[in-house]
Amino acid sequence: MSLQPNKILGAVLAVAVVAFAIDFVSDQIFAKQEPTAPGYVVDMKAAPTAVASQAPADAKAPAAATTANASADVAPIADRLKTADAAAGEKTAKVCTACHSFANTGDNKVGPGLWEVVNRKPGSHEGFKYSQGMTTFGETHTWDFATLDVYLTNPKAEVPGNKMAFAGLKKPEDRANVIAYLRSLSANPAPLP
Ligand code: HEC
Repeated sequence: MSLQPNKILGAVLAVAVVAFAIDFVSDQIFAKQEPTAPGYVVDMKAAPTAVASQAPADAKAPAAATTANASADVAPIADRLKTADAAAGEKTAKVCTACHSFANTGDNKVGPGLWEVVNRKPGSHEGFKYSQGMTTFGETHTWDFATLDVYLTNPKAEVPGNKMAFAGLKKPEDRANVIAYLRSLSANPAPLP
């Protein structure tokens, strides 16, 4: 009987043993970490047009009057302000205070002071160094209610090149509440539209 088959079998087993050994040792050295969250999250709320095309049209939003809104099925800010809650807006606006002061001293932080921001010219608050993008925007715009509504939906999209590192408030009623709160930050609040 030839020993050749046994030798071949032996060699195969030896390779298998070495492979298992390497696998075992490398498991000891390199701890496996299962990701706790998926590698990336597709934020559907960040794509209002895509969502809008799937969502059924909102009955209380007349399509003709929504030019100032990012999404076609959102009621105009003039309507939403009628039911807006400035106190709720103050709570939502807590996220802004990381960068903005709301105090009537007009202090600048990472962002410009927001006291008296309604109906102000964008990029005009004293002592704040604005981006070129915001300064250019101010040449043709005013922070009226509708402009604030669009800006706060998606700051980067509305004012290209501006340096406010904030993703935006996606919920229309959150924006209305925050804008109602911003309106209150004044010695003489602007009349409601
Ligand atoms: C991560 C910091 C940061 C956060 C959070 C932030 N902002 Fe800003 N914001 C800025 C900066 C910086 C600017 C100036 C942008 C520029 O010059 O391009 C700015 C500009 C603005 C302006 C324009 C003001 C002007 O004088 O023209 C408004 C209005 C505004 N922010 C509102 C808000 C509101 C409301 C919130 C919360 C919902 C918010 N921001 C959250 C940093 C921030």
